[in-house]
Amino acid sequence: ATVYLNGEYLPAEQAKVSVFDRGFLFGDGVYEVIPVYQGHCFELEGHLARLQRSLDGVRINNPLTDVEWSEMIQTLIDRNGGGDQAVYLQVTRGVAPRDHLFPANATPSVFVMSNPMQPIPDAFKAQGIKCITLPDIRWQRCDIKAITLLANSLLKQQAHEQGAQEALLIKDGHLTEGAASNAYIVKNGVIYTPEKNAEVLPGITRDVVLRLAEQAGIELHQQMITEAELHDADEIWISSSTREMLPVTLLDDHPVGNGQPGPVWQRLITLYQHLKQE
Ligand code: PDD
Repeated sequence: ATVYLNGEYLPAEQAKVSVFDRGFLFGDGVYEVIPVYQGHCFELEGHLARLQRSLDGVRINNPLTDVEWSEMIQTLIDRNGGGDQAVYLQVTRGVAPRDHLFPANATPSVFVMSNPMQPIPDAFKAQGIKCITLPDIRWQRCDIKAITLLANSLLKQQAHEQGAQEALLIKDGHLTEGAASNAYIVKNGVIYTPEKNAEVLPGITRDVVLRLAEQAGIELHQQMITEAELHDADEIWISSSTREMLPVTLLDDHPVGNGQPGPVWQRLITLYQHLKQE
């Protein structure tokens, strides 16, 4: 595969970064994952806007303009054969002698790759996925898409080892999000999702879900969801750029609702499928 590193397109094996890169030493950087359908980025503007927000949050200057980002990303997608891909991009504070303080004049490192989109197993949509709840052990700025994913990785691994596809995270008795996804519940036909704050990533797929729900005239509230409400939900779903929207039918070994993917999820995933094919 061809990747982009600091201004150059090159074969993945030849892309090398310094051991002094602050991404490597401090996890000092931010990232985006952008879905690509039929060779075109889905919701690129939203992803670039969130990238800017994350960069501002950690005080790294954006090394490229939005036009430069989109041209480079499109070039990479084309060089990798188009079709359905997932673009991963990251910006770190750059290479500097190890010091917690920001370097005076480091150049941000930019790395971008695009790989074929991992297909979502049919069974996940037909039967739903299994989730477990775990304490949210992450830091207090989960609204920044930082590359520092140790807590997320530990949580997702723990879920996997218990046969679950995602961990739903609980903080002070309420739901925040998944280890790598946003979360929703449905009760009596109404959708609820935690509001945007420092505890959750402002998901781009979440924005799409909210838009689709509004267009479909389905009532939706962005508000706190208690652990009790989560366990009492008629439907639970997760969303992300790589997993679209998936219904959760088993939570902590108990069926969610009637144990089948629910009608509200069904309606929205149909709309989502149409949208991504436009
Ligand atoms: N993760 N919350 C967290 C903690 C995430 O890591 C992600 C996505 C989301 C969903 O955001 P979006 O809809 O913009 O993808 C929510 C990506 C896919 C990843 O880390 O691979």
